[in-house]
Amino acid sequence: MTLAGDPKAALLRRAGEVFTGRFDAAPDVVAFAPGRVEILGNHTDYNGGWIISVALDLGVAAAAARPMGESGGGAGIAVYSETLDSERTLSLSDARRAGDWSDYVKGVLLELGRRGPPSGALRMALASDLPVGSGVSSSAALEVAVASAAIAATGQAPPDRLEFARLCQRAEADFVGVPCGILDQFSSIFGVAGGFLFLDCATHEHAEITCAPSCPSVLVADTGVRHELVDGRYADLRASCERAATRLGVALGRPIRFLRDVSVEELERHAEAIDPRDRARAEHVVLENERVLEGRRALESGNLTLLGELMLESHASSRDLLGNSCEELDLLVDTARDLPGVLGAKLSGGGFGGATVTLVDPTRADATRERLVETFARRF
Ligand code: GLA
Repeated sequence: MTLAGDPKAALLRRAGEVFTGRFDAAPDVVAFAPGRVEILGNHTDYNGGWIISVALDLGVAAAAARPMGESGGGAGIAVYSETLDSERTLSLSDARRAGDWSDYVKGVLLELGRRGPPSGALRMALASDLPVGSGVSSSAALEVAVASAAIAATGQAPPDRLEFARLCQRAEADFVGVPCGILDQFSSIFGVAGGFLFLDCATHEHAEITCAPSCPSVLVADTGVRHELVDGRYADLRASCERAATRLGVALGRPIRFLRDVSVEELERHAEAIDPRDRARAEHVVLENERVLEGRRALESGNLTLLGELMLESHASSRDLLGNSCEELDLLVDTARDLPGVLGAKLSGGGFGGATVTLVDPTRADATRERLVETFARRF
């Protein structure tokens, strides 16, 4: 797909049709939220660092309406997912998790309920063209689409965009229980067509960096290896980084809230203070932050070749220091890097499976995709 594409209209239409088929009425609103790929900044977000991402033209669409004759009380919320062919009835007065996909929806509606009157009765249908568990943020897209549709259908005053992103992040972190950063939700809300998004995850300063007129194509290659962020490995990486930050704070004699506040030199000087595994992970984060800042400068000066090199370095660092790659992801990156027209490639998102992102000259995109598919199929 290209950065400039916009196939979301078909998905919006489909969500409306799914709604009508399911609930025998027309929806009042339909909302779309895109998935994203992370171009640089792997596991930097919850370390208060920097990221560069791109919003995709694939996403989740939510169609919603308040059923006639029902209004308050939080009762009667029905949500249908076309992807999973599954319908759930949610009760917001019972704040327990169901342990399935509907928790993402319930978490968002509970957050919205904290800002204003409870949503009352609601019908919602979800359609998606994003693969689930592939590192392209299907869960954030779901949260953002659900929140947009619920806000519009219930007439709640919309939050500003940053609070919107945070609200969706809290739904995932506090309710579903995945201690994620803000990368996914922020990218889904602030992502722009035809450009990259730069974000400082500590200050939320952000910038749109256009690549027109020579935008590369963004190829997303899904390994089919499903990562489950809730399975503990993501939380384990985060805990390592937080331990390293605390240790460094003691060694440096100043409070270190995030690894972002540590320089490469400080980390080297106090390496012995940190457990070796935590140290390797911290080293990834500190150097990855440098790469993101260098990547921003490269993008702003139109140096896509350098951006691509930084992506390859990022992947090697995720693989060797952070430890969240796998042989399927490595094969896709190693294959892509040698193909003509490819600028760079890396894993995207949590890791341990999921997808790679490859930036490639648009004239070579089809050939690159074919080679990736062929090479992957031969090996796995
Ligand atoms: C997942 C999380 C994000 C971020 C990435 C890794 O996508 O949801 O918050 O930590 O992994 O960069």
